[in-house]
Amino acid sequence: MEQTKKLLIPSIGFGTYKAAIQDGAQVIREALDAGYRYFDTASFYENEDVVGSVLAGSGLSRKSYFVASKIWKSDLGYDSAKEAIARSLDRLGLDYMDVCLIHWPKSSPDDTRWEERLAGTWKAMEEACSQGKIRTLGVSNFLPHHLKVILDCASIRPAIDQIEFHPGYLQEETLEECRRQGILVQAWSPMGRARVLQDPLLTNLAAQYGVSTAQLCLKFALQMGVMPLPKSVSPDRMRQNLALGGFVIADDDMEKIKAMPCTGWSGEHPDRERVPAQN
Ligand code: A2P
Repeated sequence: MEQTKKLLIPSIGFGTYKAAIQDGAQVIREALDAGYRYFDTASFYENEDVVGSVLAGSGLSRKSYFVASKIWKSDLGYDSAKEAIARSLDRLGLDYMDVCLIHWPKSSPDDTRWEERLAGTWKAMEEACSQGKIRTLGVSNFLPHHLKVILDCASIRPAIDQIEFHPGYLQEETLEECRRQGILVQAWSPMGRARVLQDPLLTNLAAQYGVSTAQLCLKFALQMGVMPLPKSVSPDRMRQNLALGGFVIADDDMEKIKAMPCTGWSGEHPDRERVPAQN
């Protein structure tokens, strides 16, 4: 199996899902000003055009920022994925994406042809990679049994698995499998869509370290070897979420956070219908 060429990326990226709801261009411009250089979008977010045009107009060289996009559930399969990649590049206004991920492993929980569709999607992604349209390939919301399908058919290994990850929802089996396979885990909702920010253990620990609870969550991800993709529409919070340099979470505090009971999650699971968010 061929290794994807190593791509050095920032240790924290900016999640643009919120930017689809708010004034997207303004949010992306403020994130750039705050210092973000890795932007995570998706065709599903319907903001690839906004992300692409703000970055193109930023005056930064193409090599100084990174754009990741994703292939949506309804575009799984060789032909559909090929077209989806072309459409994403067109909307982004880019010659290449730095990262392209499969957004979810199945088109629906009862998709009986998901393995075949994944293999076809991966082939289309590998071809786009060899044509210089994508630099790094990966997946999102893949559990170990989904990863296995890709690993079994890939000539280019997946470099990233982006999953929901935050204190109280660690998906440890997937973390462990990604570690074993040398796959970088990225965290979507690293603060559990702000739900976990009220948790008494986290607020107490954050106070002890003299940081915000959000900063504690993001540092926790980094110390777990996970790349967080925080979202915010507030310039102050965008900056705060990048300012993680001044503290290290002690081992015993890391263990306390790891041992937190499930504090709630989005309710989105690749193998079953969405369940209402648990708070
Ligand atoms: P806002 O956009 O008003 O800053 P996640 O990335 O885990 O899904 O969380 C996103 C949510 O967390 C958003 O509601 C965002 O609100 C909030 N958020 C982001 N950064 C911070 C922060 N530093 N402090 C408090 N809330 C934050």
